[in-house]
Amino acid sequence: MFEGKMVRLRSFELEDLDSIMQQWNKINLRRELGPIVPHSRKEREDWIRKTWVDRRNGKAYAFAIDDLKTGEFLGHCILNNVRSINRTASISVAIYDENNRSKGYGTDAVRVLLKFGFDYLNLHRIGLNVFDTNPRAIHVYEKVGFKKVGIMRHTDFVGGVYVNDVAMDILEDEWRELYKKEKK
Ligand SMILES: CC(C)(COP(=O)(O)OP(=O)(O)OC[C@H]1O[C@@H](n2cnc3c(N)ncnc32)[C@H](O)[C@@H]1OP(=O)(O)O)[C@@H](O)C(=O)NCCC(=O)NCCS
Repeated sequence: MFEGKMVRLRSFELEDLDSIMQQWNKINLRRELGPIVPHSRKEREDWIRKTWVDRRNGKAYAFAIDDLKTGEFLGHCILNNVRSINRTASISVAIYDENNRSKGYGTDAVRVLLKFGFDYLNLHRIGLNVFDTNPRAIHVYEKVGFKKVGIMRHTDFVGGVYVNDVAMDILEDEWRELYKKEKK
């Protein structure tokens, strides 16, 4: 388990399904994450089981995010597409309940995930894609050190309009420089 100032990252358990299903099919969450189609409880259960397999195979590392003090389940953060030769990966993060957003959890979770990626998986580059209609996420990523490196136009059709994908990344040297300052 990895801890930040506000969150603890841990493996997903099947017991998380009740909390997941309360939020997962809400549009305010899913419109930022990709295709918006309802998922059944069984599909999320299959997904949890897959996170265990992917972790064993070193393909992806998915963590449940809990509140450090109360233990409340908050969401997920994932290092996906881990490529050991290139030492690259991409991240995904979501605080499921909108009432828990903008309280600092997402920033803390991404910081812990970056430390895991650079200090434990020995990654060189961590990237991500985010819709340009999601200023809060872009702000959080910039705050923890990601840089915008490009825009892919009209990658997704969401709610009747095309949105652009902003590509962002951070390299290990940049992260170490920032982290050094943070520790002082
Ligand atoms: C994106 C997400 C993970 C961020 O986590 P969070 O816990 O809400 O974020 P935090 O509370 O740590 O930080 C939010 C920051 O954004 C700022 N913010 C809030 N609304 C904003 C907006 N509309 N525009 C710009 N910044 C905004 C806040 O002021 C805060 O910045 P500050 O700490 O400098 O004041 C979370 O909002 C979420 O899960 N959203 C839905 C799913 C999603 O978008 N996932 C990312 C897909 S790429």
